[in-house]
Amino acid sequence: MTTHRIALIPGDGIGQEVTPAACQVLDAVGKRHGITFGYDEFDWSCRRYVELGAMMPADGLDQIRGHDAIFLGAVGDPSVPDHVSLWGLLIPIRRGFRQYVNLRPVKVFEGVESPVRRARAGEVDLVVVRENNEGEYGEIGGRLNRGFPEELAVQESVFTRTGITRIAEYAFTLAAGRRRHVTSATKSNGIIHTMPFWDEVVAETAGRHPSVAWNSEHIDALCAKVVLDPGRFDVIVGSNLFGDILSDLTAAVAGSIGIAPAANLDPSREFPSMFEPVHGSAPDIAGRGIANPLGAIWTAAMLLDHLEHPEAADQIRSAMADVLARTPIRTPDLGGTATTVEFTRALLEFT
Ligand code: NAI
Ligand code: MG
Repeated sequence: MTTHRIALIPGDGIGQEVTPAACQVLDAVGKRHGITFGYDEFDWSCRRYVELGAMMPADGLDQIRGHDAIFLGAVGDPSVPDHVSLWGLLIPIRRGFRQYVNLRPVKVFEGVESPVRRARAGEVDLVVVRENNEGEYGEIGGRLNRGFPEELAVQESVFTRTGITRIAEYAFTLAAGRRRHVTSATKSNGIIHTMPFWDEVVAETAGRHPSVAWNSEHIDALCAKVVLDPGRFDVIVGSNLFGDILSDLTAAVAGSIGIAPAANLDPSREFPSMFEPVHGSAPDIAGRGIANPLGAIWTAAMLLDHLEHPEAADQIRSAMADVLARTPIRTPDLGGTATTVEFTRALLEFT
């Protein structure tokens, strides 16, 4: 029997509703594979910020450093500015634990209708590999002359050889085990310093992976191609901003952002990795019990992959495919009337 200690941060809004669903599926599948989970739950959230003035305690990272993995539902609430909640919790964990890969797989499942005409089930199966530690989401900058007509804001992007090389290496290695194609998202026509540098380092990395074909696409044209012909993509690698935008776009192509999973990985395994669905706290539907738990459940499968239980992870993914292909049970975002609890129960029948 293997036991894993998981730091659980349900967070805000529907994070509170989808996290229990993910844990239920982890426990059920774990039981079949001789894996047990010990959850330590943390109340880090906007609620905590409003009460205590901080999203997490000052020694928060130390409290979860020793766990095997971190599972996060979602954070964000209209009562707290989004940059406060993001920079007070998610970004410190991603950066403090060197989770430089943000991995976001996308699939069109049988039984789910994509809003995109050419996104048919079985034909769209891609992964967005987003750089997660640097790039456009930098802390260097500031604001001057607040309130005056001369007011200005400056924000620097930071791209390093180390940062680009390691994310590109990850993407090419991942593609080598898939359909062997990488698309690099760039904008080297308009952004004249950082993006040509990105292109150069990606090309150097590609040279070390001769079995993987690749090309580079400007982000604007790439967005159009994702909508027009999503089936052509295998692995898409992008900077922090481009990867962020692309992964919501690809999630929408898959039918609902409620399905999309994500992993923030430290491939060196020096620090724990963090697993979170792509979606946010969805204040518009929070508290009604109708959130789609599939994103969180697929995220749980990624956690199992990372903890080296690939058969258990596959069992979750096939239960997801089965419940969608063989039953009409859906949450409202996919056109159904099932609650989070009802849908999770239906999925558990297939595990
Ligand atoms: P969102 O992902 O929370 O919601 C966008 C739309 O998708 C909403 O209409 C929502 O109802 C729907 N949706 C999202 N997840 C769903 C699910 N599982 N089932 C059914 N429908 C679902 O993004 P939004 O509205 O931009 O952000 C809301 C809050 O969440 C903000 O405070 C934002 O900062 C935060 N956020 C947090 C993230 C995280 O914790 N990783 C990621 C993205 C946003
Ligand atoms: Mg995003």
